[in-house]
Amino acid sequence: MTRKLFVTTALPYANAPFHLGHIMEYIQADIWVRHQRMSGNEVHFVGADDAHGAPIMIAAEKAGISPQEFVGKIAAGRKQYLDGFHIQFDNWHSTDGPENHALSQDIYRKLKAAGFITSKTIEQFYDPVKNMFLPDRYIKGECPKCGAKDQYGDSCEVCSAVYAPTELKNPYSTLTGATPVMKSSEHFFFQLSNQKCVDFLRGWALQDNRLQSEVANKCKEWLEGDGGLGDWDISRDAPYFGIEIPDQPGKYFYVWLDAPVGYLASLKNYFNKTGRDFDAFMADPTTEQIHFIGKDITYFHTLFWPAMLKFSGYKTPDNVYAHGFVTVSGEKMSKSRGTGISPLRYLEIGMNPEWLRYYFAAKLNAKVEDLDLNPDDFVARVNSDLIGKYINIASRAAGFITKRFDGVVTSDWATADDAFIRHLRDAAPEIKALFESREYGKALRAAMEQADLVNAYVDANKPWELAKKPENDAKLQEVCSRLLEAFRILTIFLKPVLPQLATQVETQLNIAPLQWADVNTPIPHLHKIHPYAHLMQRVDIKIFDQLFDAPVVDAAPAAEEKTSDIEAIAEEIKIDDFAKVDLRIAKIVNCEHVDGSDKLLRLTLDVGEGRTRNVFSGIKSAYQPEQLIGKFTVMVANLAPRKMKFGMSEGMVLAASAADEKANPGLYILEAWPGAQPGMRVR
Ligand code: 2FM
Ligand code: ZN
Repeated sequence: MTRKLFVTTALPYANAPFHLGHIMEYIQADIWVRHQRMSGNEVHFVGADDAHGAPIMIAAEKAGISPQEFVGKIAAGRKQYLDGFHIQFDNWHSTDGPENHALSQDIYRKLKAAGFITSKTIEQFYDPVKNMFLPDRYIKGECPKCGAKDQYGDSCEVCSAVYAPTELKNPYSTLTGATPVMKSSEHFFFQLSNQKCVDFLRGWALQDNRLQSEVANKCKEWLEGDGGLGDWDISRDAPYFGIEIPDQPGKYFYVWLDAPVGYLASLKNYFNKTGRDFDAFMADPTTEQIHFIGKDITYFHTLFWPAMLKFSGYKTPDNVYAHGFVTVSGEKMSKSRGTGISPLRYLEIGMNPEWLRYYFAAKLNAKVEDLDLNPDDFVARVNSDLIGKYINIASRAAGFITKRFDGVVTSDWATADDAFIRHLRDAAPEIKALFESREYGKALRAAMEQADLVNAYVDANKPWELAKKPENDAKLQEVCSRLLEAFRILTIFLKPVLPQLATQVETQLNIAPLQWADVNTPIPHLHKIHPYAHLMQRVDIKIFDQLFDAPVVDAAPAAEEKTSDIEAIAEEIKIDDFAKVDLRIAKIVNCEHVDGSDKLLRLTLDVGEGRTRNVFSGIKSAYQPEQLIGKFTVMVANLAPRKMKFGMSEGMVLAASAADEKANPGLYILEAWPGAQPGMRVR
């Protein structure tokens, strides 16, 4: 039976370009969607920008544009990422679209009519200069426990104490610096504590095969933990960029109320554009609604969201699948540590998007585990498995078919019980089931085991030897035809992960787009293929230097047109911000080339600590090591150590460069005046 699937990924906030974590999630979902399409199921895969909330409103204000314009600019940048990584959403919309306004208000009205909305007057910090209530993140002050300055309203970074923003000493608004005052206002709540709600959620969350076991266990804890679920504050006071609460002037839905409704809104927008019936689709009991999300937002998706839908009479989600975070070489990605990877830069430097799709897939499973991107591992998987095992088969066989047999393959042998091909066909149901259960790593391992067998067949039959004697022609044609049939089947196994490559293969083999059902239908006897062209390049590990070394700053939405070559001066900071950067005079006691890097020099620096520091610096293009030894320069001494391919870098030396380094490539490190000593602070 054909399944009807409605699939989404979490809606990203429209205040920044995509990062690698977004791309990973989209690839995970896209693979699943493509697998479903190859199975003949009806799938509607939608995304949208999560447009609302205070941070976006404030960012837009800073940029001097309306929030609508601000999110519009971010939205305009989405396509290049999605197309670039072959992520095939059917629709990309915005939670600020008219569909979402209407649907969110409708859900609210129904919840209210069903008795699930309550109201209560609460007191909160208010910025008397900006005339707005302050979300916790905009309040700082002194830690009530240890007295550390400039701590956020929820916890202290120095002593780890946890507290309420109202407990901070000398609190201030980070927006204006003003001392916040307490002010009361009426808020609206979704009554999650209602017994009906708790009963429903327990049944929903603990239903077999709905949630991953670790997520279901968490839900159980939330539902049964101390005091159970509290009511959820769903309103915010003006000024707020959001959707107005019906009949409550000046009150808006909290962004997390309307964000998931954006899933429905994007589907509705898509259905309206394509002449489909949204209401009928959502009312159909066979429709399956599936959300792919990150582990940090399970609370919203497994409690608030299903409850909102249930008690407003909408369809509830069938599955919510959570994934972990992406780490780079075992660490959380961080721009300052140089382990941030810009997906756009990945594409710009010519890295193949399908390498990343393959790598992510090879490391993904159905659990809520973090996924580590490690350059050596990446290169090994792409070069040894993908190219060495899979692409290699086509390059061994297709050339002979083209050159020696005018592109004609045979398959009369396939009607006989051919053990070699049968083995591949028999692997299909298991591999397909592994895609279905999101065990992509296992699916690819199973596919590569089959590729190993095919390569063993290559070695046993040595087409290059057969080709030496014309009397072996029939055998050569059969061996190569078998190999191409094997390659075709392997291509089906890999197609959800490598859609572009599969399309190239289909073109070369001159066959229709491959589906799961095609596994048992060989290339027709005496079919003519197109000449072989190489399908995929190997990765060179050196390219990772370009990926990590020069972090690109993705175009900020409010970036001004450039009028000069001088970069705009950065956002204003306080003297305390500057004081956080510990600049020291460093003596360059040694400097050498780094094997395998055409950008870096290894500096050994004395910062007066009684030991030396190892620092990698991307200045090889500008200096010979011997020019630098003995010089006194300036380094950032309190930068978190950064793990690089060549070892740890324990700081950073400063160098000047033009805004447009490509057009104007000079690099100039700083030198201290005579008299400065290692370890002296620069301030
Ligand atoms: O955490 C986030 O990035 C949210 N913008 C996700 C929203 S998912 C859905 F609810 F829209
Ligand atoms: Zn503290």
